[in-house]
Amino acid sequence: MGTYKAIYERSLADPEGFWGEAAAALHWEKPWDKVLDPDAKPVPRWFAGGQINTCFNAVDRHVEAGRGDQAALIYDSPVTDQKRQYTYTELRDAVASFAGALRAQGVEKGDRVLIYMPMIPEAAIAMLATARLGAIHSVVFGGFAANELATRINDAKPKAIVSASCGIEPNRVVVYKPLLDEAIEISSHKPSACIIKARPQAEAPLIDGRDLDWDTAVAQAQPAECVAVDATDPLYILYTSGTTGQPKGVVRDNGGHAVAMHWTMKNIYNVEAGDVYWAASDVGWVVGHSYIVYGPLLAGCTTVMYEGKPVGTPDPGAFWRVINEYGVKVLFTAPTAFRAIKKEDPEGEYLKHYDLSAMQALFLAGERCDPDTLFWARDKLQKPVIDHWWQTETGWAIAANPMGIEPMEIKPGSPTVAMPGYDVRILSEEGDEMPDGEMGNIVVKLPLAPSCLPTLWGNDQRFIDSYLSKYPGYYLTGDAGYRDDDGYLWIMSRTDDVINVAGHRLSTGAMEEVLAGHSDVAECAVIGVADALKGQMPLGLIVLKAGVERDEKELAAELVKRVRDQIGPVAAFKLVTVVKRLPKTRSGKILRGTMVKIADSQEYKMPATIDDPTILDEITESLRALGYAK
Ligand code: COA
Ligand code: AMP
Repeated sequence: MGTYKAIYERSLADPEGFWGEAAAALHWEKPWDKVLDPDAKPVPRWFAGGQINTCFNAVDRHVEAGRGDQAALIYDSPVTDQKRQYTYTELRDAVASFAGALRAQGVEKGDRVLIYMPMIPEAAIAMLATARLGAIHSVVFGGFAANELATRINDAKPKAIVSASCGIEPNRVVVYKPLLDEAIEISSHKPSACIIKARPQAEAPLIDGRDLDWDTAVAQAQPAECVAVDATDPLYILYTSGTTGQPKGVVRDNGGHAVAMHWTMKNIYNVEAGDVYWAASDVGWVVGHSYIVYGPLLAGCTTVMYEGKPVGTPDPGAFWRVINEYGVKVLFTAPTAFRAIKKEDPEGEYLKHYDLSAMQALFLAGERCDPDTLFWARDKLQKPVIDHWWQTETGWAIAANPMGIEPMEIKPGSPTVAMPGYDVRILSEEGDEMPDGEMGNIVVKLPLAPSCLPTLWGNDQRFIDSYLSKYPGYYLTGDAGYRDDDGYLWIMSRTDDVINVAGHRLSTGAMEEVLAGHSDVAECAVIGVADALKGQMPLGLIVLKAGVERDEKELAAELVKRVRDQIGPVAAFKLVTVVKRLPKTRSGKILRGTMVKIADSQEYKMPATIDDPTILDEITESLRALGYAK
């Protein structure tokens, strides 16, 4: 741990020196007054007084430095059979034109632009164009329904919305425009303009006076220059699941984010300008923000934007084809993608058709990486497989194996060690530090590293209540785990009602709110049960109102549709069982954790505070009928 240890320790002992040096790699319109302002509220802020433009650093800077002809973005879409590349010059011009189109609609510094788009280059162009104007984007994942979109429109209050006529899933065309129209209809805030990219797979009738066609708007636009903003001004808001139906608007600033993103590319992923980097995720998630768009572009890499799946588009060799075709050096995805490939091609037959010699490493994150998946990937690829742990809130890895500093021993099941800037501690419920090897709440001592959220959009109090109040002076990650004798971190589970389905972070509380709205439901609980492919799947336990008699299958179908319509297909809510009663503590708290253990056939301790232990037998029986609790 020689080099890593020295670098890590310096980052904590001299954060200003450490991040100040890292920041020098970027172009600043005005240097910062202080690398770290320790007195800022609610948390210390990075690069206070500095001015920067993130789009300039991600795009224009490379053109000015002579990289104009290098590929910046490769679009590869097996679902539409299309491929397209943008050089840095082409990307700059496309971004400047679209920024002009946004500006023509009145978008200025500080305004919000909501982006609801599939994985097409225009999604990244819209993000960068918003950043170019010093405005703030909020990307909403395409798998969310109108209701979720409306919640975000009401919270972010965008001046403009950018969307497309459709997204394409292997089994269907997802028409976006009706969802967008419905969301605007039900939201109290109304955007003044919507710009829609028409795709041939679906038409999108435009509403006069509000909607504009992307191509027309761009054709009429004057290219816009970069607008410098304060380093502490927001670059984007990304909504993520919390414990309730109201998602949390994670705010990312411009300066700290750009510095951290740039730093990670060499130090964690070991890639440099000119290398091809591929995050097989979606721009709607934090992985897409950080490692499809900003990280690779800030570092002058070539980023791959892939509109397809690991399997079925057309086969489980899809990832190997892309790596081979573009010489991908680093692939980053969620373990679930590898479980999907392994399921369809357990022997790795498809690998034999491709040359993966350019590939240096596979990085996995988004959910716990089970050792079986890691072993399979390592065995088949014959490359290092690196698990790393992070969250929407941080924007980059809290723990990783820093391949560009010092590749460290891999312990399957552990995302390795804390990254510079993160003073990770494991605390007991009472706030005492746990000895090595013992589980506790994982927290980060303030200040958080650059790029971590400075607040929740428009809601300092919720930020304080959710993350800072349990242990004053520490940020609560919401994960539980331990540190071993070698300093490795082990991330074992969430401590709240957040579950992880196919690498997608979802709120069981939000699903419960939707189920509880059904007229036959008296009360309900949603738990995350283990799933061999997706890691976890949501399962709803329903208590009917007195006197209600329903065919269980029919009711289940109604509830499944309700969650799909109100949250979206991404919730993957398919499992429902009707129970007579829910197990509770004497004070009335539903024992969700105990039910998870029963469903997953794990041993559990009878909770001392349980009101009526016999209910657990009834629950076991119902779960067994669904194929759980074996
Ligand atoms: N727009 C609309 N619908 C979407 C969508 C999008 N962008 N993305 C997913 N959906 C839909 C799917 O079509 C599916 O619908 P269905 O119920 O009609 O089948 C539903 O949402 C659930 O999606 P998902 O949980 O992703 O399951 P899947 O069976 O479609 O795919 C995997 C499973 C493992 C192949 C896929 O989740 C995957 O590739 N995941 C790993 C990569 C990743 O995205 N990671 C995210 C963070 S790094
Ligand atoms: P998201 O905000 O969607 O990135 O989800 C973040 C959450 O996913 C974390 O708080 C963890 O619960 C989980 N997670 C992400 N990466 C890992 C990992 N490598 N190991 C274990 N859990 C992970």
